[in-house]
Amino acid sequence: MKAVTWQGKQDMQVIEVPDPVVEQPTDVIVDITSSGLCGSDLHLYDPLAPFMTAGDIVGHEPMGVVREVGSAVETLQVGDRVVVPFNISCGACWMCERGLFSQCETTQNRDTGTGASLFGYSKLYGQVPGGQAEMLRVPFGDTLPIKVPHGPPDDRFLFLSDVLPTAWQAVEYADVEEGGTLLVVGAGPIGDMATRIALHRGLRVITVDSVRERLARVQGRGAETIDHSELDGIGDRVRELTDGRGADAVIDAVGMEAHGSPVAETAQKALGLLPKKVQEKVMLNVGSDRLAALLSAIDSVRRGGTISISGVYGAPTDPLPMFELFDKQVQLRMGQANVRRWSDDILALLQQDEDVLGVDTFATHHLPLTDAPEAYRKFRDKEDGMVKVVFTP
Ligand SMILES: NC(=O)c1ccc[n+]([C@@H]2O[C@H](COP(=O)([O-])OP(=O)(O)OC[C@H]3O[C@@H](n4cnc5c(N)ncnc54)[C@H](O)[C@@H]3O)[C@@H](O)[C@H]2O)c1
Ligand SMILES: [Zn+2]
Ligand SMILES: [Zn+2]
Repeated sequence: MKAVTWQGKQDMQVIEVPDPVVEQPTDVIVDITSSGLCGSDLHLYDPLAPFMTAGDIVGHEPMGVVREVGSAVETLQVGDRVVVPFNISCGACWMCERGLFSQCETTQNRDTGTGASLFGYSKLYGQVPGGQAEMLRVPFGDTLPIKVPHGPPDDRFLFLSDVLPTAWQAVEYADVEEGGTLLVVGAGPIGDMATRIALHRGLRVITVDSVRERLARVQGRGAETIDHSELDGIGDRVRELTDGRGADAVIDAVGMEAHGSPVAETAQKALGLLPKKVQEKVMLNVGSDRLAALLSAIDSVRRGGTISISGVYGAPTDPLPMFELFDKQVQLRMGQANVRRWSDDILALLQQDEDVLGVDTFATHHLPLTDAPEAYRKFRDKEDGMVKVVFTP
């Protein structure tokens, strides 16, 4: 089959690889019909490169049709239509029972000290072959795949794999009271969808980015916007808009590759010049994240407010303004999305006739798998009005 593979820093290649096979009786094999490109894939492209191995199949936002089921699978049949969550959770352990699917104790990576395994996401998360491919092996066939009805186009359900539950969790964790104001930092797919979900819940939403067409999209849905490239810090602007107080909650939908923090950027570049084994060590022991978005969140949240972080951070020792956090009495919540915790609630919403979150028109580009190398670059550089890419293997 064809698959998108990581071959080196900023070097994705579509190559022929062996078809996946059933390895455990609980596995299913899925023929992939659509597969998203995520901001998290961009971290593999560059900063998380030390944890990648040439040939790794990437991608973690797939859906498709079941092609084969293992002998122990009871609830799925060949021909069923499924969306595959990006985190691999057993559905039965202590963590899964508590809704903490991204911390699943069956697939946790104890050797690297990280949470549940993820599809297509480096040695840090189990080095499991990913879903930007023609086929995918999916474990826990009875509990992990989300069965969806045949009929509507893929885009109606595809974003259940990641964007929707991630944005949903971000809004849940932000926990804004009725009538409150939510600030969303970042208007990529995650920030955009979090904005839509919060607006759908009747909140006032202010969304920040510097990419004009991304701001226009959320404005079109009813958000107020701030272009952070026009300001020296966004905190004062946010306070102006909120009776001097700041936002009740802030979602950081940017993560470790934020623009606007040159010092850490230099550190990250320097890291890239080290030999690979040393890079891995340095990355695990020293901070190198660009913290611009998180620092904006800390500045803009009101006293006693909440910061909900869905942007991914990867360095173990980032310096944070602890006095400001403590004195402002800020609550912090974060983590990889617990996809299965929210997916049934979201699916119910998607099955309404009306497309309340605008998922049908959310993707800006549908591309064949063979366009992946160029799509990664364009998505990173925000060219061609590219916000969300869906590959159609
Ligand atoms: N927690 C999870 O489960 C989960 C799931 C999916 C994605 N993510 C993470 O969410 C983040 C966003 O992903 P995405 O798919 O939306 O990708 P993206 O990279 O396209 O979105 C990031 C957006 O932030 C903007 N930005 C950069 N610096 C900024 C700053 N200082 N202030 C305001 N905006 C800034 C960029 O212009 C871009 O539009 C990534 O870190 C990704 O890894 C987390
Ligand atoms: Zn993703
Ligand atoms: Zn589990």
